[in-house]
Amino acid sequence: MTEFIHISDVLAGGLEGKTVKLRGWAYRVREQKDIVFVVLRDSSGIIQVAIKEPKLLKEAKKTTIESSIELSGVVRADKRAPGGWEIAATDFKIIGLAERFPIGKDLSPEFLLDVRHLWVRSPKMCAIWKIRSTVFEAIREYFKMKGYWEAHAPFFTKTSESGLELFEVDYFGKKLRLSQTWQFYAEALLAGLERIYTIAPSFRAEKSKTARHLTEYWHAEMEAAWMDLDGLAKVCEELISYICQKVAKERSAELKLLGRDPKKLAAIKPPFPRITYTDALKLLEKDGMKVVWGKDLRTPEEKQLTTHFDKPVIVMFYPKEVMAFYKPADPKEPRVARCLDVLVPELGFEVIGGSERDLDIKAMAAALRAKGEDPKDYDWYFDTRRYGAVPHAGFGMGVDRMVQWLCGLASIKDAIPFPRTVERYYP
Ligand code: 4AD
Ligand code: MG
Repeated sequence: MTEFIHISDVLAGGLEGKTVKLRGWAYRVREQKDIVFVVLRDSSGIIQVAIKEPKLLKEAKKTTIESSIELSGVVRADKRAPGGWEIAATDFKIIGLAERFPIGKDLSPEFLLDVRHLWVRSPKMCAIWKIRSTVFEAIREYFKMKGYWEAHAPFFTKTSESGLELFEVDYFGKKLRLSQTWQFYAEALLAGLERIYTIAPSFRAEKSKTARHLTEYWHAEMEAAWMDLDGLAKVCEELISYICQKVAKERSAELKLLGRDPKKLAAIKPPFPRITYTDALKLLEKDGMKVVWGKDLRTPEEKQLTTHFDKPVIVMFYPKEVMAFYKPADPKEPRVARCLDVLVPELGFEVIGGSERDLDIKAMAAALRAKGEDPKDYDWYFDTRRYGAVPHAGFGMGVDRMVQWLCGLASIKDAIPFPRTVERYYP
């Protein structure tokens, strides 16, 4: 008995004339009088199967789109077949006969989201999932290579990044929040481990319906002791470049299927351009976009700014006033914070936000009070400053946004298998 192999093993060549066993799903079916053509799909690719043996025809003619199948057949070269190879079936068995598949001509985004559980198996979506898997792998590889420990934090918390975007949950009669960031716990773990990272979901009650916001997204965060803003910017450019290089090299077929040129990603290498918020406003003003100093950059402004660069750009020193409580004022220019955002070209949005961390408890407590938070809930966090504080810095990367950019997707909803937004929580 030969073993089942994958379609990609056949497409790789060298099996001409051999009998192979394949299994997968019927991607397309075409029936003629004495022959049935089934394009078979598995996790590795598609291949045409011709069934014309009389004893197999009855079963083959039952095949519906997306039925699952096991078959044996002889490999032969055929220029007309997709991929250049065809299987002449010698055995053919339907395992799970599919009902009429609901995805046909209607490919409107809303309909495809309604039937997402069935659409996730389509070749284009699978190309995205494979790229996404490689992105996660790249992040882990990069941090392992640099001596970081993977460390975890709870999702039920009392601390928060920004009051507006909180999900409150009933926790045995008490109000807790779903975590927006791993950062606060990371700052405690850092006193023992020095360099740590995580990849985990974060939750944001984003009411805004944009192409780059999810309510549940995957957040890759790092925190490092003894690191300053310059060191942090280096980690940003190295990590993003590492991901781009790996995806360009290992997922070029998938990128091409999505209409994305792998060479474009392979060209992303350090150093990245760096610009201050204040200089960014000057660039924007030249472009006819006036932003009042002190306001955070909005979507159209971020997008316009990135048109000046063909690599991700690191924007530094945003106004202290509009930043999270833990981002410290710059001693040389206290109206700005020692922080950064990384914006990607083309889609033109933020993929990374990070900063040095304030060590001044009084300053943080005041900033928290100004945002309506009770500093008492952060008392444990302040302990990390009371007992052997060290200068440190960290950032968070939106992994789904990263995937969206790498794949060139119009919406972040297509960068994650089952997106969660204000309106989308089914399936
Ligand atoms: O800029 P943010 O809010 O930073 C933090 O949470 C820090 N505590 C991270 C840290 O320093 N450890 O979020 C970080 C990144 C953003 O740059 C963005 O890419 C992504 O998370 N992000 C979202 N992605 C998808 N949907 C949302 N609603 C997102 N909100 C933030
Ligand atoms: Mg941010």
